[in-house]
Order: sequence, then C-alpha cells, then structure tokens
Amino acid sequence: TYVIAAPCVDVLDKACVDECPVDCIYTGQRMLYIHPDECVDCGACEPVCPVEAVYYEDDLPGRWEGYRAANAEVFHSLGSPGAAGTTPPFTTDHPIVSAPRP
Ligand code: F3S
Ligand code: F3S
Repeated sequence: TYVIAAPCVDVLDKACVDECPVDCIYTGQRMLYIHPDECVDCGACEPVCPVEAVYYEDDLPGRWEGYRAANAEVFHSLGSPGAAGTTPPFTTDHPIVSAPRP
C-alpha cells in the first residue's frame, strides 16, 4: 500500500485525491490518510503531491515510519467504506499528528 506521511500535515493539498482511481484517500482535520486495504498500489497519487508526502510503504523514510500504522489505525472504527468521496472528514486525526516529536 501507499502511505501519507508528515509533510501532508496542515497542507492538505488534495491533488492526490483527484488521481486515485479507487477513491481510497480519506480526509482528516490536518492530513489525509490512504486506506491500506482499499489502495490498489496504482501509484498515481505519489508524483502529484507538491510536498512529497506520499510514499510506497517500502520507501517510507524511517523518520516517518509511524505514519504506516497511522494510515491503518484511523480506519479501525470505520472499516472499509470503499468511498472516500462520500465519507465525512474525520473529526479527529491520528495521535501521531499531535504527539510531540521524540
Ligand atoms: Fe496531502 Fe499531498 Fe495529498 S499534501 S492531501 S498527500 S497531495
Ligand atoms: Fe489510490 Fe494512490 Fe493507492 S492513487 S490506489 S491511494 S497508490
């Protein structure tokens, strides 16, 4: 799967959303998240992000490793709607967004 990492926080450019053929990039308050079970690894989102926030999971820089779990954990209560466009924005972000840096 692909993962959205820290550079998206407070930017939310959303160019990625327009590229995704399966509508699996969901909106939070301060960043967006890729549903790990819905992403089909097409890779279309990665080159269009102006701040290089999107990575294939194997290429995720180590300093942002926590974002791999974050992109999955935000969906634990939601399940797999299969439609980001009709899912309301999350009311809270994953704790990784607000947690102090180690
Ligand atoms: Fe964020 Fe980049 Fe998409 S800033 S919303 S990952 S285009
Ligand atoms: Fe969509 Fe990007 Fe995956 S465009 S299918 S989230 S690689």
